Amino acid sequence: MSRAPPDSRFNRPTVSAITLSAGILTVPAGGGARAWAAQGRMPGPSGTFQTRLIHSRARSVEHALIRRDPIPPMNATDLRLSPAPSVRSLILGAQSGIGRALSARLSRRRGQLTLACADLRQLDATADTLRPLAKSSIDTYQAQLDDADSLRRLFERAGQIDHLIIAASAPAPAGPLAELDLDQARQAFERKLWGSIQAVQLALPYLSGHGSVTLTSGIVARKATPGALARTVINAALEASVKVLARELAPLRVNAISPGLTDSDGYHGMESFARMSALARAGEKLPVGRIGRTDEIASAYLFAIDNAYVTGTVIDVDGGALIA
Ligand SMILES: NC(=O)c1ccc[n+]([C@@H]2O[C@H](COP(=O)([O-])OP(=O)(O)OC[C@H]3O[C@@H](n4cnc5c(N)ncnc54)[C@H](OP(=O)(O)O)[C@@H]3O)[C@@H](O)[C@H]2O)c1
Repeated sequence: MSRAPPDSRFNRPTVSAITLSAGILTVPAGGGARAWAAQGRMPGPSGTFQTRLIHSRARSVEHALIRRDPIPPMNATDLRLSPAPSVRSLILGAQSGIGRALSARLSRRRGQLTLACADLRQLDATADTLRPLAKSSIDTYQAQLDDADSLRRLFERAGQIDHLIIAASAPAPAGPLAELDLDQARQAFERKLWGSIQAVQLALPYLSGHGSVTLTSGIVARKATPGALARTVINAALEASVKVLARELAPLRVNAISPGLTDSDGYHGMESFARMSALARAGEKLPVGRIGRTDEIASAYLFAIDNAYVTGTVIDVDGGALIA
């Protein structure tokens, strides 16, 4: 009887191979492999691990796998690494800048899209530009982060949602501490931090358990920038709250996107030439050589929404500003 040729993997003293139903996965032997196995959630069709011991040093891995409780089969939520067929999303701060770019992206998905911001008239105009290409239904409502009644009305009218995104801004005073208007700084903190947390609290009865909340921070949360104390304090607190909320509200996922300098409507109050040259100068200092576009920030929200394995995370989209 002919024997199968020796598998070259047997000759590797420090490597174990585990055969899964989906193929062969090679993992480091020893502690690393045990850790992988203890955390692993890669079920076969029946929902349990299907393994074959190839290398003797994989025995510890096998034991680790056998000790685990049976893992339930993947369901539709687990598999949602790509856009779900139909989703219900609500964006607060949807009228301009990053929120509008995200509105455009989400409107191309089947489902229900609810847009809200402070100025309903402008938001309606934005929605009208999206509808011709939209695959989702689009509803618009007036609501403000710092107005609990408007938020209650918003969530009552929107009904059940899968994904809540808060991209609203809260202008914060800039300048050195000696000149900083602390009353304005407190108001901005109240509006963006507690406003965001209040919005999440009021949305809870309407959020589906497998859904997500995505907040918006900003690079100054962790990039020490003289003159940006108010924004630093607000966004750092917001990032800290994301991690607590992700644990408290699990399995609902909670993340934040932290944009770097992005050419949004927020800067359109500046004179055009001054704005363009200031943003260009700032962009030159970044590893990517330019500032961000709102659409590039929007794609990070889609990642946070779509990837059911991401929670408690702050996603930096900053052209490398944190390492510059
Ligand atoms: N752009 C950047 O360079 C940058 C960098 C770091 C972080 N961020 C953060 O990213 C987020 C979005 O910024 P952006 O540049 O897209 O700002 P933006 O262009 O000024 O848009 C802000 C949006 O928030 C809405 N909004 C303002 N106050 C609100 C309130 N009290 N309640 C509800 N909605 C409100 C605005 O609606 P109305 O027009 O109706 O008021 C608008 O739709 C902000 O949290 C900002 O701090 C931006």
